[in-house]
Amino acid sequence: MRVAWLTDLHLDHATDSQRDALYAECQASTADGFLITGDIATGPLVCDCLRELGDVCDRPLYFVLGNHDFYNSRIDRIRREVSDLCGIQTNLHYLTDQFSTALSENVGLVGEDGWGDGTEGDYENSSVRLSDFALIEDFAEQNPEQWKNHLRALGAESEDRLRPKLQKALERFATVVVATHVPPYREACWYEGHTTDDNWAPFFVCGQMGNLLTEMALEHPARRIVVFCGHTHHPGTASMADNLTVVTGGAHYGAPGITGILEIGSAECLWRVNGCQPL
Ligand SMILES: [Fe+2]
Ligand SMILES: [Fe+2]
Repeated sequence: MRVAWLTDLHLDHATDSQRDALYAECQASTADGFLITGDIATGPLVCDCLRELGDVCDRPLYFVLGNHDFYNSRIDRIRREVSDLCGIQTNLHYLTDQFSTALSENVGLVGEDGWGDGTEGDYENSSVRLSDFALIEDFAEQNPEQWKNHLRALGAESEDRLRPKLQKALERFATVVVATHVPPYREACWYEGHTTDDNWAPFFVCGQMGNLLTEMALEHPARRIVVFCGHTHHPGTASMADNLTVVTGGAHYGAPGITGILEIGSAECLWRVNGCQPL
């Protein structure tokens, strides 16, 4: 089985011709399924974009949502709308809302949106203020002093949702593919060939998911975990343990496209990804 991987499409930034080129690329792809690791569009547009992508791809389309997918809306509202859409359009699969999926006999897929959870880097002295705080209602209605705790809570929610499904998947599958939006480690948070500094790390690393992945990789030394993520728009590969690798996909605003191919064997997942080392 082959899965085409896309990340950070930001379709709200794409012209009609850029979108048409993406659709043509998906239709021409010989992949058996598609995986999108978030930042598909912005809140009010996300369901329409997913509906259209689902029609165009006409094969299973697995996805998680990224921070931009909640812009001009609320986190719980968009998650609910997207889950409802998946109930209607049966080739769409919102992984955050699902248990594991078997990609082959011994390769499973799980997913979780994730969030830059303020646990890595130097939040207090960071000069970074993401648009998230102004454009996602959950943050905009809060006092800025509340943001750090809210980021942490979103990261904790991600860890809580992922823990039971990852545990179960590792009991069943030799290889577990984890799809998420935010890199779970600083070492996987790439920018122009370097990894993040203390200024950006609070908003570009989901540290609590990283802790969970490290714990699970240690507990299951005979299993392999491969994480595919986006959010930084810069590609890179990070080996976090003998059995734990994180592949971060690159992206450009206004140039949505397939960033890589996952080759799913009976018990392993290999990849060919733009700008990333293969396994
Ligand atoms: Fe993005
Ligand atoms: Fe993002």
